Amino acid sequence: MATERTALFMFFGGTGDLAYRKLYPSLFNLYRKGNLRSHFAVIGTSRQTLDDEKFRAAIKKSLADSGERADSKEASDFISHFYYQAHDVTDTAHYSVLKELADKLDKKYKLQGNRIFYLSMAPQFFGTIAQDLRSQGLMSDNKDAFNRLVIEKPFGRDFDSAKQLNDALSKSFDEEQIFRIDHYLGKEMIQNIEALRFGNTLVESLWNNRYIDNIQVTLSEKLGVEERASYYDNSGALRDMVQNHIMQIVSLLAMEQPVAFTDTDIRAEKVKALRSLRVYNVADAATNFVRGQYGSINDQADYRHEDNVPHDSTTETFVAGKLLFDNYRWSGTPFYIRTGKMLADKFTRVDVVFKKPLVDIFAFPQAPNAPLAANVLTIFVEPHAGFSLQLNAKTNDATFQTEPIKLDYLVDAEKSKETPEPYERLLHDVMKGDGTNFSSWPEVSYAWKFVDQIRRVWDLQEPQFPNYTPHSMGPAAAEELIQRDHRQWVYRLNN
Ligand code: NDP
Ligand code: BG6
Repeated sequence: MATERTALFMFFGGTGDLAYRKLYPSLFNLYRKGNLRSHFAVIGTSRQTLDDEKFRAAIKKSLADSGERADSKEASDFISHFYYQAHDVTDTAHYSVLKELADKLDKKYKLQGNRIFYLSMAPQFFGTIAQDLRSQGLMSDNKDAFNRLVIEKPFGRDFDSAKQLNDALSKSFDEEQIFRIDHYLGKEMIQNIEALRFGNTLVESLWNNRYIDNIQVTLSEKLGVEERASYYDNSGALRDMVQNHIMQIVSLLAMEQPVAFTDTDIRAEKVKALRSLRVYNVADAATNFVRGQYGSINDQADYRHEDNVPHDSTTETFVAGKLLFDNYRWSGTPFYIRTGKMLADKFTRVDVVFKKPLVDIFAFPQAPNAPLAANVLTIFVEPHAGFSLQLNAKTNDATFQTEPIKLDYLVDAEKSKETPEPYERLLHDVMKGDGTNFSSWPEVSYAWKFVDQIRRVWDLQEPQFPNYTPHSMGPAAAEELIQRDHRQWVYRLNN
């Protein structure tokens, strides 16, 4: 039985792409499941002049576009909780009108003063909005109520700008009231990392540098930059994917067992892990990180000829790197990461490569056997969710040859349909006040300090772009990076 939550949601950027495509359909799912029932209301804001009816029609379309039965009674009941207020976030005078509407809806729906402010717009506005929400009295002063601020990415473009933003937010909201979205933390199999590690003696007892040779994290995208070039060209793969999603995944893989399964304890362990991540000096940054930009193939233009990309852009669309933790658990076990656009396929996976037995007793000189393969535990995040464990077994015949076999667990298609979308989970967590799956400020700041150093070194030298073919797995340098250590990527094309 779902617990009903009570809150007023205010979406800043309420007519934007993210709100229509992801946020409103996710709220509807929460409504269908009973997490929202009678005691909630939604205010959408933007500079557009719309009335409630037009806004509700747009919500209906957003549900229909996401495959929902938007003409059902359930959908129209849900949509009746939506209100629109034209509002320029840079105009302080506008906030009093918003406050009036918020107070009115609070009474109408008996919302007990609970407020969720979702900033789904360009980050340069985050500080101003937070400040005006407090100064103009939009935050509820009922001592039993909550005020929560949800922030979309990107959180800064380097450590200094992120700190400035955080300082601005902290003037109005405490850290536990701020929910920094990283939608990878809402993904089923990313959340499963903790279950896999801390729910299995078999896994956790081997989860260290004595038994693990290396860990590989791959976030591969098949599409190019699409229509987001104006954002992406100012960001690049390092800021867009590594600083946030990859660093979050790596910290879940590297952290120690939390004292309890609570947001405070989990975040504390992630922070400790990130603190022990080695921040590279100039020489090591240059050796341990490589970048790429896609070229052209057939009808596919190279990155520099995509819409809204400058013809001399040096923005990277691919990154691969080696991360080292200087702590007792991981010293000597590298984490290799890679991500890029216009690669062979769209998928996310983690490959944990175990050390081979110290002695291969099956290497009979009289009957040569293939050398033992390493055991590999793969976490498939997307598109299919599951695990796979590669072991060595005897071939099923009269010889004593060994061969790698796989134990697979894949979540079946029916079950996958029930998996909540990341934004649905994250919105639910915000309603519950559970910060486990959000990035805390210390995590964000350590991640920026690491990434800034790579960026600084890259900015010293003009890259030789383009350097990889669309639909490949990135530039040759990404292969060389790992081969130099006498290793190879577990996922390669054609294997
Ligand atoms: P859009 O550009 O589609 O929407 C921006 C919204 O902000 C619009 O509703 C716009 O309406 C409103 N807005 C702009 N200026 C003002 C202003 N001065 N006062 C009030 N409202 C204003 O952006 P997205 O929805 O794509 O992105 C929103 C946020 O989510 C960004 O931080 C982005 O980085 C992040 N994000 C988006 C993703 C996506 O898939 N779209 C994925 C991951 C993160 P109007 O111009 O009419 O005022
Ligand atoms: C976003 C990035 O955070 O994640 C995009 O800004 C990227 O560039 C997207 O395409 C990938 O997310 P997912 O869930 O499709 O793997």
